[in-house]
Amino acid sequence: METIQTIITRRSVNFFDPSFKISDNELTELLRLAALAPSSYNIQPWEVVVVRSPERKKALRECAFNQPKAEEASAVLIIIGNTDAVEENLDAVASDLVDKGYADAAAAESVKKTAGGFYGLPDSERRKVFSAKNAGLFAMNFMTAAEGLGYVTHPMDGFDEGKIKEAFGIKADKVVPMLIAVGRFKDGVSLPDRKMRFSPERFARFE
Ligand SMILES: Cc1cc2nc3c(=O)[nH]c(=O)nc-3n(C[C@H](O)[C@H](O)[C@H](O)COP(=O)(O)O)c2cc1C
Repeated sequence: METIQTIITRRSVNFFDPSFKISDNELTELLRLAALAPSSYNIQPWEVVVVRSPERKKALRECAFNQPKAEEASAVLIIIGNTDAVEENLDAVASDLVDKGYADAAAAESVKKTAGGFYGLPDSERRKVFSAKNAGLFAMNFMTAAEGLGYVTHPMDGFDEGKIKEAFGIKADKVVPMLIAVGRFKDGVSLPDRKMRFSPERFARFE
């Protein structure tokens, strides 16, 4: 499916085929595609807990205000903004710049210094915004990739973040911008019309 078509057809879907079990290989492929998302300095500050066992989905539903899709979807991703990613990933990112000829060793060092200083300390508000912003792009890419490959998705931020962190062993100062339910569309159901969108005249300003 072409990208534009995928953008047009993607919907937040509440009707998941309960008999469909997405495989770990399929999920891994979607995660690989999602990780092609752009990120600040290519730091890729995202992590994902892929919840697909019935017991863990049930536990997740309890953290998600009992939203049925948290249990009915084939899998639900906990998208995490990794506030430690600057420290964890910059070395690898900088070596890649050198390996691919984007920068020599000195320039790569300077990228490390600049990027390392630019996003605040790991427990700062700035770092949370940085990681949530980039994890959001990853999440959108995941949903587009899933749509393109014939799955359906549903993003959710209706959950108790503290409870999810505790139940799934996520460090307190990381951020969880959303969950994404993924599966196959349930046969025999038709979606209502797409919800309204504001027009560019309303939300954009040209200068
Ligand atoms: C970050 C985010 C969080 C959302 N959280 C929920 C949620 O917890 N429960 C829910 O039913 N829908 C949730 N939605 C879905 C929105 O209601 C939906 O995207 C919007 O109404 C537009 O519909 P569409 O995605 O089908 O175009 C969320 C969407 C986003 C992007």
